[in-house]
Amino acid sequence: MAFKLILATAGLLEAVRSTAVPGVKTVLVNNVVVPKTKSDFAKNNVTAKWAPGYPKEWGSEDFHYQLNTPDPDDNFNAVVTNDEKYLAVTNGSYVEFIDLDKNATASGFAFQVPEKQLAIGLTIRPATQGGYDVFTGVVSYKYDTPKTTIRQRIGSDLKPVGQPIVYQGSIGAISKQGKLVSPSGYVYDLETTNNTPIATLKGQPDLTDFSFAPDGVHLASVSWHEETADLWNATSGEKIFSFPATKAQNWLTRFSPDGKYVAFALGSSNNTVQIYTLANYTAAPIEIKGFNDWPRYLDWSPTSEQIAIADDGRLRVYNVPSKEVTQTWQVDSTNDYYPAIGISWLDNGNKITWQWRDGKYLYDFESNTEWLWTINNTAHSWGPSTFYLLSKKGYAVTVDGDSTVRFWKI
Ligand SMILES: *[C@@H]1O[C@H](CO)[C@@H](O)[C@H](O)[C@H]1NC(C)=O
Ligand SMILES: *[C@@H]1O[C@H](CO)[C@@H](O)[C@H](O)[C@H]1NC(C)=O
Ligand SMILES: *[C@@H]1O[C@H](CO)[C@@H](O)[C@H](O)[C@H]1NC(C)=O
Ligand SMILES: *[C@@H]1O[C@H](CO)[C@@H](O)[C@H](O)[C@H]1NC(C)=O
Ligand SMILES: *[C@@H]1O[C@H](CO)[C@@H](O)[C@H](O)[C@H]1NC(C)=O
Ligand SMILES: *[C@@H]1O[C@H](CO)[C@@H](O)[C@H](O)[C@H]1NC(C)=O
Ligand SMILES: *[C@@H]1O[C@H](CO)[C@@H](O)[C@H](O)[C@H]1NC(C)=O
Repeated sequence: MAFKLILATAGLLEAVRSTAVPGVKTVLVNNVVVPKTKSDFAKNNVTAKWAPGYPKEWGSEDFHYQLNTPDPDDNFNAVVTNDEKYLAVTNGSYVEFIDLDKNATASGFAFQVPEKQLAIGLTIRPATQGGYDVFTGVVSYKYDTPKTTIRQRIGSDLKPVGQPIVYQGSIGAISKQGKLVSPSGYVYDLETTNNTPIATLKGQPDLTDFSFAPDGVHLASVSWHEETADLWNATSGEKIFSFPATKAQNWLTRFSPDGKYVAFALGSSNNTVQIYTLANYTAAPIEIKGFNDWPRYLDWSPTSEQIAIADDGRLRVYNVPSKEVTQTWQVDSTNDYYPAIGISWLDNGNKITWQWRDGKYLYDFESNTEWLWTINNTAHSWGPSTFYLLSKKGYAVTVDGDSTVRFWKI
């Protein structure tokens, strides 16, 4: 997607720089330079406290994994499977599975990409029959949007099963029921080995983001270029409803986990989040306004009673439907140009993670504790970045932009 591309490019341009960003006040904690905050979450009016030893820098992790020697031109990516059993790492041609119980390499195979093409990105879902579906996009150069997506099924022994299947387009969203929708509006059934779409979203060639309702039938979409927000029947491809025109670059959509609400993030000059109620989607939406530029990223709490929304230099948690702000994290800055991204509620909603620039944050609502893993003044960053929490083993896993996966005991 375009925004990921912008971030990736920014990462490249800033490969060599200091952690101190112009216009952002910083403080030194544990010898780590971190952004000073205007507001840093709180419980009973007491600001969050650092977990012992935090913030921490790359290099002070308990252990890490790399696939090859990290290089700014490489194509590294890594995923922890939902069952927390495996870490999968890829370099754009090969994917290796590491067994997290045994802490050892379990399997590896080469993606069957056409000659002179690259495998970009890594998505893994559990297969109903056991094992996993491993997806990657196929591109001719690193920053291109995938024209096709390859799926390689692997068995419980992690060995490839059958030939890879090629789908048109990139991954828009995948439902729990195993339907994949691509930005060009094709819906595929991943439970079959057929790559013929089971439905085509009628008359919508250019969609930006998708979200499946928990029923796997209702599908919300937004289009940045066409400034539309729609509700579809993913089984038939029929449009159920076109939400009123926003005249804005609609950016992102997310159903609440209970399927009661669907949220749309509106960019351009609107900078609004609209929340419609599915039981009565013709009724006026709840509207949240007052963002620093675009509301860039959002995630629903597992109870669907709260929504976390990020804008430039800030992350706020709102009650739904009251819109009351219950938590705020905000950097102390005269230039807040960098949005918080990567928001995700973890640990059954007891924790939340987000990312700001090269720092990955975690906050625990119960204990009012905060963790931060970040880059130091001499480290370099160039690649994609994600965060996982191994709740059973008690590790935070940071997939860092220097083609390294770090494990931190917490
Ligand atoms: C929290 O602190 C603010 C400002 O110091 C005060 O106005 C407010 O009443 C306090 N709230 C609670 C719940 O103590
Ligand atoms: C900064 O981080 C890098 C990457 O982890 C590490 O190799 C290096 O030793 C660190 N530098 C300092 C001065 O601590
Ligand atoms: C990816 O890693 C595999 C296994 O280490 C290696 O054989 C292959 O050359 C690597 N490919 C690239 C593009 O780095
Ligand atoms: C996992 O293996 C690595 C070496 O590959 C080692 O450095 C690390 O300590 C191991 N972690 C655990 C939890 O055993
Ligand atoms: C979706 O389409 C299928 C197939 O036409 C139909 O059976 C189902 O009732 C539709 N559901 C909704 C919610 O429109
Ligand atoms: C978005 O902004 C445009 C231009 O200012 C305006 O016409 C439109 O009504 C706005 N939409 C919403 C939902 O506020
Ligand atoms: C749906 O919303 C409209 C507009 O607010 C309202 O008139 C109507 O009564 C609502 N319908 C139901 C079933 O709640």
